[in-house]
Amino acid sequence: MKIVAYGIRDDERPFLDQWSKENPDVEVVGKSELLDDQTVTDAEGADGIVVYQQKPYTASVINKLGEYGIKFMSLRNVGVDNIDWQAIKANNIQVTNVPAYSPEAIAEYTVTTLMMLLRRARQFMKKESEGNFKWAPDLADELNQMTVGVYATGKIGRAAINIYRGFGAKVIAYDIYHNPELEAEGVYVDTPEELYAQSDVISLHAPATAENEHMLNDKAFASMKDGVWILNPARGTLIDTDALLRALDSGKVAGAGLDVYEDEVGIFNSDFGSFDAIPDERLKDLMKRENVIVTPHIAFYTKRAVKNMVYYAMDANKDLFETGKSDKLVQVD
Ligand code: COI
Repeated sequence: MKIVAYGIRDDERPFLDQWSKENPDVEVVGKSELLDDQTVTDAEGADGIVVYQQKPYTASVINKLGEYGIKFMSLRNVGVDNIDWQAIKANNIQVTNVPAYSPEAIAEYTVTTLMMLLRRARQFMKKESEGNFKWAPDLADELNQMTVGVYATGKIGRAAINIYRGFGAKVIAYDIYHNPELEAEGVYVDTPEELYAQSDVISLHAPATAENEHMLNDKAFASMKDGVWILNPARGTLIDTDALLRALDSGKVAGAGLDVYEDEVGIFNSDFGSFDAIPDERLKDLMKRENVIVTPHIAFYTKRAVKNMVYYAMDANKDLFETGKSDKLVQVD
């Protein structure tokens, strides 16, 4: 079997090499370039490809894979929102993802960001860098006094719930699908509106879909408690950025932890050399605010998660080739 792995970063390469050593029956080609119209030609002759990228997997790229007879495409990440599924179906390609490389990594990071916001970490670090050790005016808030509304209770949402509870917070949740254990505990509210109305913190853990694009818009913010805290480690499209900026301006939203941003592709995981050179004014507006923490989609970025992403994706690709089956197959209607 031959697998071409695209977009292999320096931090992934040792794990890919290790997997390759453990699977001497597979020829592995690890390319640092992403999969696009130019680089797709490198996949000719492969049985499967392993990929991770935020830029789209377009119909023209997928049709080319089909022409090369490639039937297996394994993502090293969870999100499947940047794939042209019509083209995938038309070319009869099986796609796997890694649904759980470390839900805890994302959950821990989300709560870390919240604690930094609640304890005014940015404000104190800035003051200290200016030689100012005064306490006021940065009086903090306590998570144990709060109700956290968790939107979507998949693996990451549930890991986050456990941590929020460890801090003593009350947790409520919304999801179309109810987890039986959480259901038995009476955690679910019936509508997103109920979640918004009752929560001091909204913690988003949903995948991006056409239906939930800009679910946090002016109307949603208006229905929330005054001084609500917003956390988004999931997908940038869940939040209408202009509406969030308005809600931050008015004080409706006390602060936000944003590990994703709707226009992040091409910006996050790039180095522009200076703040001024960042080519996105809205992002810079968010970043300048002391009550906002913007990070470049790093909630997943731990040693354990990166290793699992490489290993699980390579294993899934091999499984498909050898057995025609994988427990990580993505089913899209
Ligand atoms: C995903 O797995 O879908 C993520 O959002 C993490 C990605 C940046 C590797």
